[in-house]
Amino acid sequence: MTQHAITSSAILQGKVLIVDDQEANVILLEQILLREGYQAISSTMKSSDVCELHRENNYDLILLDLQMPEMDGFAVMEELKKIEKDGYLPVLVITAQPNQKLRALKAGAEDFITKPFEMAEVLVRVHNMLKIRLLNKELHNYNNELEQRVCERTAELKEGYQETILTMTRAAEHKDEDTGAHVQRISYYSRVLSEALGMDDEFIENIFFASPMHDIGKIGVPDHVLLLKPSGFVQDEWEIMQEHAAMGAKILGNSKSPYLKMGAEIALNHHERWDGSGVIQMEKKAMKFPYQHEL
Ligand SMILES: [Fe+2]
Repeated sequence: MTQHAITSSAILQGKVLIVDDQEANVILLEQILLREGYQAISSTMKSSDVCELHRENNYDLILLDLQMPEMDGFAVMEELKKIEKDGYLPVLVITAQPNQKLRALKAGAEDFITKPFEMAEVLVRVHNMLKIRLLNKELHNYNNELEQRVCERTAELKEGYQETILTMTRAAEHKDEDTGAHVQRISYYSRVLSEALGMDDEFIENIFFASPMHDIGKIGVPDHVLLLKPSGFVQDEWEIMQEHAAMGAKILGNSKSPYLKMGAEIALNHHERWDGSGVIQMEKKAMKFPYQHEL
């Protein structure tokens, strides 16, 4: 953000709407403000037009008379509240009745001007109100800018995680000739199954990127074991092969990334059976049950 003070020039360019059913008052206020150098002054004598005009022009300040036929200043403020969702009404009420000031402030006006007009008072209040309005706008823009920056950084971070995952997965694939298309299929199967189970978007995205890492522990399995067919394993080799699940969890564990956290859990359990007998049974009957992917 380019932070700077609100300049006098910016204040003089603030968009002002004068609302009064008395033409003399409108002309007088216009003259006071134009003489001071304000450049964007509009006016209306029809209170029912105020909201439509504000919607079109997004005024920085509305000088609003309270006593008007048909729709008075209070009714106008109620309508303006529907436009200004954050609750801040850029309204400076004009009143000749001191007892209405408090009610006007409670109704959402930010300040008031008393009739008959005192030029110095009008100018000070208009200047101050516009300054606050412009500061608010600047703050609002700054917040939007920050929000956008956070979104961009988050997207970059996410992209970085995803790239890391793909790189690690490729490293594991490099060790195991069979896994190429297999790991990609796992991603898509996991996503489809998660969607069918009604999991939320975050879970579905996490599992899409986490599931291809299930065999990452094979990085730690020696090539001469990895390249053997299950039927060719001897007891020791079989046990080494089985360790790839825990090894994968160890590689991916202790991470803050939701992808890696889920990846660790998947790696650890990806040979588990539906009845929970997977790892234990495999250990017990290692020689009887050939090693095979269950996913
Ligand atoms: Fe595996």
